[in-house]
Amino acid sequence: MLKNRLRRTACALAVWFLATVFGNAQETSPRPLAVLPKLAIDLPAKEVALGHKLFFDKRLSGDATLSCAMCHDPKKGWADGLPLSKGYPGTLYFRNTPTVMNTAHGKYLYWDGRLPAADLPTVVRDHIAEAHFLQADGRLVIERLRQVPEYEVEFKSVFGGEPTYGRILNATAAFVKSLRSQDVPFDKFLGGDDAAINDSAKSGLALFKGKAGCIRCHDGAMLTDGKFHSLGLTSNPDIFQTPLRHITFRRFFRTLGVPNYRALRQDVGCYCVSKDEKQREQFRTPTLREVSRTAPYMHDGQLATLEDVVEFYNAGGGPRATKDPLLKPLGLTEQEKTDLVEFLKTLSGKPIEFPEIKVPAYKLRKLGEN
Ligand code: HEC
Ligand code: HEC
Repeated sequence: MLKNRLRRTACALAVWFLATVFGNAQETSPRPLAVLPKLAIDLPAKEVALGHKLFFDKRLSGDATLSCAMCHDPKKGWADGLPLSKGYPGTLYFRNTPTVMNTAHGKYLYWDGRLPAADLPTVVRDHIAEAHFLQADGRLVIERLRQVPEYEVEFKSVFGGEPTYGRILNATAAFVKSLRSQDVPFDKFLGGDDAAINDSAKSGLALFKGKAGCIRCHDGAMLTDGKFHSLGLTSNPDIFQTPLRHITFRRFFRTLGVPNYRALRQDVGCYCVSKDEKQREQFRTPTLREVSRTAPYMHDGQLATLEDVVEFYNAGGGPRATKDPLLKPLGLTEQEKTDLVEFLKTLSGKPIEFPEIKVPAYKLRKLGEN
């Protein structure tokens, strides 16, 4: 009896000890904000140039009417400016389109973090194949590209052979990787140029790290902890009022094996990947780099401006029970709200501009000639 009790006490102590150590480990203090890191390896320029064409080429979609760039538009911060993505023709998607800039430095991609940023070619493959994005059969895409003599030459020069699915994915991923912020005022400020951001932004930075507590989730060089949280948001009603969106929503969660998917009235977030109840309605903390260009905000685009986002946090977040306990009303003054927005604006660099890309045309293939 006594032995058993001792054993139980010892067990309880061990559990308590582990919980304390593990618990503390989870509550590590935020990492300091830092400049955008360099890429680990230099990207081959010829592969990037090929990927650039593919990114703008509608042949990558099933009905050849949609390119990557039509949803990730360089003029709209490499996003689309819409609350919810339009999806493949005949569908409508139920989440907001993120920018593809700086994705090489992310940890998880997609709002629910279902793919790792380290594997961009897989993200491209997922996009090409998915019914709500490009809905194309890889074999068809390869055949189309093989009918374009210019591509034949270019693939040969980059990869030493003809277009294959793997090469298409790698080249497109290389282009995406090359899209990184440049000339960012905040990075210049961190580098010692005190005049790179104005006084209001400097006050905003202090609030970001202090009173407003943003840095507890948006930390490090990418201004994200790489983790998942719920901000307590109720879903954008458009998802359930627009049948085509609702169909995509249901099909998506059904495919991922989410129980009771028909009755859902909330995006379950990364629960759809982990099936861990604690992660219900949690989304990955997005990077704040380029954020002033990628309105509207949040996974379902329900907040129209940065002012709305700050107002939302100031009120202590949304009403859902899943809300992260870190979110509390902030009591910011009007000036403080302005300063915070001013700081967020310093995270966008010079727009990446290219001359209009010319996608090569089909040409009749002649045996032995091209
Ligand atoms: C129909 C619109 C649409 C098209 C076309 C499209 N995307 Fe996307 N893209 C999205 C949406 C929406 C998401 C977010 C999906 C989610 O979180 O569920 C996304 C996410 C991404 C991401 C991850 C970004 C992040 O931070 O999570 C990358 C990278 C990306 N797309 C690249 C591409 C490439 C490359 C192509 C072309 C092969 C492409 N996209 C075509 C809408 C589109
Ligand atoms: C508890 C962690 C947490 C805290 C604290 C936090 N955020 Fe966030 N932030 C997130 C998550 C998670 C999202 C995405 C949520 C979603 O889409 O449902 C997000 C989204 C955002 C977005 C939208 C980005 C986009 O691309 O749509 C902005 C802007 C933002 N946060 C700024 C801030 C500011 C400013 C503060 C401080 C006032 C702050 N955050 C505090 C976790 C946090």
